[in-house]
Amino acid sequence: MRKPKVNRMVLAMCLWCFIMVIFYFHSNPKPASAQGSGRSSGQGKSGRSPLQMLYDSDQLEQSAVQVTHQGRRELLEDACRSYTRKRRVLIPEDLKHIIVDDQHGLLYCYVPKVACTNWKRVLMVLTGAAGPHRDPLAIPANEAHVPGNLRTLSEYSTSQINQRLRSYLKFVFVREPFERLVSAYRNKFTRSYNTAFHKRYGTKIIRQHRPDPQAEALERGDDVSFEEFVYYLVDPATQREEPFNEHWERVHTLCHPCLIHYDVVGKYETLEQDSRYVLQLAGVKGQVTFPTSAKSTRTTGDMAAQFFHSISPFYQKKLYNLYHMDFLLFNYSTPEYLKFR
Ligand SMILES: *[C@@H]1O[C@H](CO)[C@@H](O)[C@H](O)[C@H]1NC(C)=O
Repeated sequence: MRKPKVNRMVLAMCLWCFIMVIFYFHSNPKPASAQGSGRSSGQGKSGRSPLQMLYDSDQLEQSAVQVTHQGRRELLEDACRSYTRKRRVLIPEDLKHIIVDDQHGLLYCYVPKVACTNWKRVLMVLTGAAGPHRDPLAIPANEAHVPGNLRTLSEYSTSQINQRLRSYLKFVFVREPFERLVSAYRNKFTRSYNTAFHKRYGTKIIRQHRPDPQAEALERGDDVSFEEFVYYLVDPATQREEPFNEHWERVHTLCHPCLIHYDVVGKYETLEQDSRYVLQLAGVKGQVTFPTSAKSTRTTGDMAAQFFHSISPFYQKKLYNLYHMDFLLFNYSTPEYLKFR
């Protein structure tokens, strides 16, 4: 009885995806196309969009920063070509992590644990969502994460999406995958105030991955070990049940870097320079500065090494396989501390 309806829905969705993809792939915003039209368009220097700024400047003598970013783009493209087989189509669900700044022509894919709070704050200042605030740090962290303060690309119509993917500067910030993972673990499972995560994920992890759990641990879910967290991640049942939480989901899955051509791949390791570069391209260097924080609790490579010490080579390898694409796409080498090497 219900089958025809389902079929119709599937058909409608396919058709819709198809339209969307054609538009985007047809006009791959590669330097080649921007180079051809950049000069002759006759736009004044100040009237240029961040995307034009980026690819126009590519023609001139390149600064070290530009060379670095071009290298990252090329490496990403090569890795996508080598390691992804088929090009899946984009659906609006895929664009939930991409924040839109229509005033400046920016698309930012936010990745939790990679300075995303500060980038959201900066974008709130830029889009006017912060009201009179000009200082990003004046915006409380929880305010930056309120859905609705910033618009995501998934909220737009297909033609609006395509137009923005074509003409806006698309950027993402990434981080060494295991440092990011340890950072997520420390933040969500070792801080007593994160009760929502303890209840939502901690109780489940303990129930499924601790041999003889105490009643209290099952109830509170607040003492998950890094080892148990790893068991949870590599268990195929976990992702069959529901997608990973965004704090430990891979950048590859959150931001689709092989389907969306990012113009700037920023790195946490060079956060300040890369942020400055994006703001410079956006032409807002004088209006807002990216917050610099010297957080002493920041997760480092040494810290990640300590956490991985408790993980057997077998599970280290499984975990590495899980995050393999993020290592490959963003040029992170296999950590020295891993024991299966
Ligand atoms: C990739 O990483 C290596 C080692 O850290 C570095 O020497 C190289 O410049 C990087 N390549 C790109 C394109 O970023």
